[in-house]
Amino acid sequence: MRKTTEVYNSPFPYVYFENMYSNDRLAEICDELDFYSRNRQRYFTNKTRPATDDEGISLKENKAFFLHHLINPQAQDSSACAKYTLDHLANPKAFPVESKYFNRFRPECSGFLISYYTNGDYYHAHSDDSVASLVIWIYKEPKKFEGGEFIFTDYPEVKIPTNNNCAVMFPGRIRHQVNEVKMEENDNGFGRYSLTVFLDNPRR
Ligand SMILES: [Fe+2]
Repeated sequence: MRKTTEVYNSPFPYVYFENMYSNDRLAEICDELDFYSRNRQRYFTNKTRPATDDEGISLKENKAFFLHHLINPQAQDSSACAKYTLDHLANPKAFPVESKYFNRFRPECSGFLISYYTNGDYYHAHSDDSVASLVIWIYKEPKKFEGGEFIFTDYPEVKIPTNNNCAVMFPGRIRHQVNEVKMEENDNGFGRYSLTVFLDNPRR
């Protein structure tokens, strides 16, 4: 399966990637995510400074943690998630010339968040502080959950297929949400992972 890239300039700029990682790399990434899930207490928390509403109430219910490997050059090789995502970002094709917004964008990665959504989890409409965000979805096949669609809240006409091994890159200020995930409670590890890379202008 070849990686494909679809560039959109309206109604706002975004880029959709299909087959983000090769099958071999995806298998390694899934093993790593399994490891984090098996050692859930050590890694996942639900205290990753979520976006909040005007009353300070969290807009999300999921488990997540920041993987510092991506921004720590010494540790990048020990994480398939970090290594292969950096490979993607190092390729100029990640910022297609056809994109009026992302063309020539050579960002720094300012954060790498791994999230896991299981039954009842969601992330209500919010925006990110980043210049741009790259969100990659990963789940085990056959898919055992429903919902979990990634939606641009202010642009219901934009349909983003939230498929395994696919990704979207968009300006962080564009509001987005994750619909509630529904699955059997005992389907441990069969929920919906997302890898979020926060991209910012290099510090001058
Ligand atoms: Fe977000």
